[in-house]
Amino acid sequence: MIVAIDGPVAAGKGTLARRLARHFGFAYLDSGALYRAVALHMLRAGLDPADAAAAIRAAAGIAAYDLADAALRDQAVGAAASKIAAIPEVRAALLGYQRDFAARPPGGATGAVLDGRDIGTVVCPEAEIKIFVTARPEIRARRRFLELAASDKASDKARDKALGGRQGQSFSESEILAEIEARDARDQSRAVAPLRPAPDAYLLDTSDLDIEGAFNKAKDYIQRRL
Ligand code: DC
Repeated sequence: MIVAIDGPVAAGKGTLARRLARHFGFAYLDSGALYRAVALHMLRAGLDPADAAAAIRAAAGIAAYDLADAALRDQAVGAAASKIAAIPEVRAALLGYQRDFAARPPGGATGAVLDGRDIGTVVCPEAEIKIFVTARPEIRARRRFLELAASDKASDKARDKALGGRQGQSFSESEILAEIEARDARDQSRAVAPLRPAPDAYLLDTSDLDIEGAFNKAKDYIQRRL
């Protein structure tokens, strides 16, 4: 059983996908983390995310342990990830990892939940369940702002221990909204695997729903189709 969850940045798909996976006992893959891992590798190596050849090499070396780095969530890493995600060979290099995960979910799970931009359209077009999660850009900016503020606090604690001071960068909500709109435009307009709902996807707008409300709608939809 494959559950494909797609949608734009900060629509709530990660939280939703994780909860659905836990509820149904399925394995969960955040496919954005793969693109972020490539971006993080390049930023750390001092490489330009626009350097396609270097990005393709980095993508070929991505493994499961690269997906657990806390720095993957940084705003700069997300912005770079969106750029390298437009390179067709990078997408092709990451396809195998995602399809293997869906076909043979780790831990012997009977199903997999994958979230991203093109899971229902390109990675797993055969998925039994496809959900396209959206929310208005202003709502997504607010959510991402609160998320970054919370993760800043968490990573500050670790930094305080290691460095005895705050090293983080903070962003205003309006800067985040501008970044989200730029990222949407890039993700929707790229030639390869643009962000769009699969024709057979269930559209879930979470603008006026809390986490619980979105989870219940998605869970009911999946249960109706099991
Ligand atoms: O969901 P996210 O913010 O972690 O994704 C980071 C970037 O990776 C996003 O701008 C688009 C890209 N991405 C993609 O192109 N395809 C996916 N399946 C997942 C993410």
